[in-house]
Amino acid sequence: FNLRSPSRFFSNISPESNRSSFGIAFDIDGVILLGSSPVGGSPGALRRLYDDSGALKIPFLFLTNGGGLPESKRASEMSRLLGVHVSPLQVVQGHSPFRKLVNRFENELVVAAGKGEPAAVMSNYGFKNVVSMDEYASYFDNIDPLAPYKKLMFGQDGHKELRSRENVLSQRVQAAFIVSDPVDWSRDIQVLCDILRTGGLPGKEIGPQPHLYFASDDLDYQTAFPTERLGMGAFRIALESIFNRIHDNPLEYTSFGKPNPFVFKNAEDVLKEIATSPHSSNQGSHHFRTLYMIGDNPKIDIRGARQAGTPWFSILTRTGVFKGKDNHAEFPADLVVDTVEEAVDFILTRES
Ligand code: G3P
Ligand code: MG
Repeated sequence: FNLRSPSRFFSNISPESNRSSFGIAFDIDGVILLGSSPVGGSPGALRRLYDDSGALKIPFLFLTNGGGLPESKRASEMSRLLGVHVSPLQVVQGHSPFRKLVNRFENELVVAAGKGEPAAVMSNYGFKNVVSMDEYASYFDNIDPLAPYKKLMFGQDGHKELRSRENVLSQRVQAAFIVSDPVDWSRDIQVLCDILRTGGLPGKEIGPQPHLYFASDDLDYQTAFPTERLGMGAFRIALESIFNRIHDNPLEYTSFGKPNPFVFKNAEDVLKEIATSPHSSNQGSHHFRTLYMIGDNPKIDIRGARQAGTPWFSILTRTGVFKGKDNHAEFPADLVVDTVEEAVDFILTRES
């Protein structure tokens, strides 16, 4: 399969999509991938959205609550796993809206937690004083009494500024960002409680609670294991329950990600950007008649698409969290199929 360079990538899209006037948002975990393996015939299904030269015919993006890598890196990873050219613009992750908070915290000390490269993600968005949870915890002697019993791979986040220990210890943490699923829950809950209850200076008792942001609030999600795994929402419940037992004021936080309506509004805007890319001849306003959300989680993907209303059309697959025979009772999708391959087949037939 011929992978095209980004400059050529969107050039064929406008005339075609202006006629077709539809776009597709794909959930990743449980629809496109299980762990790091494609599922439901996803590579073949995606290939149908490109022309023979490898240019994009149908505007689509990935709309995931997951994350942990900068969008450019995630796009390369998806390209490699799926065998099609994915541009960074086509990757919208749970933490992508964090970039909008950069003005507020640009030069403030912020801590970024989660798997992958959380600090690299944030510094990519323009945050200038960001420390990963791994690095932050490493500056405090004895902050995690269980550390001697753990064999964790610290330092996997390559992003590390040259800063002195004293410098970090004397600065108040202004915000904590849970970028992706935390790896070491006990250490992260301990250190987040330290940061949040002290006003950003662990070991001291002063100040109001710093801001706390979660990229999403998924209770669970599907990996290669047969039953669902605990997600960021489960971590939030654990942190919140403990914090509210040890502190007088209840935990304050903001969660991003699906099913929030702004995620679907943003996806619509990004799909318009993809369809009317500067490389196409027609850069005028673009109107979608239908936007398809293909997801595996009724409470997150289908609920979100239903709340977002027109022009969203929801399709539920059976390759992930949802394993039922009939439609979901509380959040029924517009269509239920077995796989993403079937979903794309339905869309292309309906739109032809
Ligand atoms: O950590 C990933 C998970 O919570 C959801 O990912 O792609 O199913 O939205 P996705
Ligand atoms: Mg999913």
